Amino acid sequence: MHRVDRVTEQMIRSVLAYAENRLRLDPVPLDKGSRDPADLDVIMADLLGEEGHDPDQVLGVYTSTVAPAVISADSPRFLGFIPAAPTKAALLFDMLVSCASIQGISWLEAAGAIHAENKVLRLIADRAGLPASAGGSFVSGGSAANLSALAVARETAKRRPSAGQTTGRRWRALVGEDAHSSVANTLRLLEMDALVVDTPDHRLTGPAAAAAVAADGDPASIAAVVATAGTTNAGIIDDLAGLAEVADGLGAWFHVDGAYGGAGLFAPSVRDRYAGIERADSFVVDPHKWLFAPFDCAALLYREPALARSVHAQDASYLDVIHDAAGEWNPTDYAHHLTRRARGLPLWFSLSVHGVSAYSAAIEKAIALARAAAAEIASRDYLELIMEPDLSVVLFRRIGWSAADYTRWADALLDDQVAFIPPSAWEGETVARFAFLHPDTSMDLVAEILDRMA
Ligand SMILES: Cc1ncc(COP(=O)(O)O)c(C=O)c1O
Repeated sequence: MHRVDRVTEQMIRSVLAYAENRLRLDPVPLDKGSRDPADLDVIMADLLGEEGHDPDQVLGVYTSTVAPAVISADSPRFLGFIPAAPTKAALLFDMLVSCASIQGISWLEAAGAIHAENKVLRLIADRAGLPASAGGSFVSGGSAANLSALAVARETAKRRPSAGQTTGRRWRALVGEDAHSSVANTLRLLEMDALVVDTPDHRLTGPAAAAAVAADGDPASIAAVVATAGTTNAGIIDDLAGLAEVADGLGAWFHVDGAYGGAGLFAPSVRDRYAGIERADSFVVDPHKWLFAPFDCAALLYREPALARSVHAQDASYLDVIHDAAGEWNPTDYAHHLTRRARGLPLWFSLSVHGVSAYSAAIEKAIALARAAAAEIASRDYLELIMEPDLSVVLFRRIGWSAADYTRWADALLDDQVAFIPPSAWEGETVARFAFLHPDTSMDLVAEILDRMA
């Protein structure tokens, strides 16, 4: 299995040929295939057993059955949830990283790869205005980043002088109603509670947070203030400067979840909306979303990485050697992981090849498309725009439609391979939602989707 023999040569040719064809898809089609497990199992059923199979036969099953039953998140027609749009450069380099078996735990094992990843983290930190001391690690996603960062927030709170003054409550985080679902999961896992601030217009502001703290009466138990820079459902950027102020007043950790929207730091047209992000104690942005990296890649940055190290560094005699030399950067120390893929490298390669301004231009395209789509929606009498987009998400309603109407419309669009645009909900009502991200999604496609609501 580990030698290069006739079968290996055959696999190299076949698998690379498949990968080449996938890379050359322009545009990537949506696909969806069958989702019936019985259908999927017909061809796959006997593959896993004591004896092996011809690699072309197995690849044939992948090609005919597995791949078509996946909706391609990197299609410009994928407009649901948060799409993906990895550059060809990043995809190519991801293959190289897979073949290179880079163990991204420690400087000892992978100094070159970690240095390149850290260059990218620095670039992002500079965009956010974080100090030269800032640093962190690439982790698997925004959920992992939120969990890792808020674990540091909680442990840091335990060490502050006022820690003894809490009323016996569990540690808490102040959050808005529209914080991502992974934040609620994080708090549950960390045995923390949420102080949820009412946000009638869905934007968490400093004054609203301050009022909630005053009404609540137990400021000492608040370990963290969590802001969202680009809510998932509506793309709203919270009042980061106001929330930084509240966190400061509480002596609490200020965490900014920019998993989706953090990429807007690279878009001059919206950069001013992020004022205050430079005060974050921790900040996450997912390059696998709007920085055009392949899955799975989240950048997690800390203002004071030493605090994260004190929480996440793993203590084991066989690992002592990676902590021997001062000044060496061990990505394992900044999140709840040990083994890690050097998942920042595809982004490093692509950014180096294309340059940052190509990224800015591609991000601006989605923002411009969201504005144009919003204007188009506002101009049609059977549609209603729910709000002007801050970033690249557009929420709107089809006047008179029930939830079933939205589902029928979305199903037909997918059946016809026009678009993947599942309905969302807004204040309890089923609504439609565009999530733009791919620079090749066109206004013509938007118009076609809207026409089909007439
Ligand atoms: C604001 C926000 N935070 C966190 C996440 C979770 O990120 P991931 O899916 O990479 O774990 C998302 C995902 O959409 C998000 O939009």
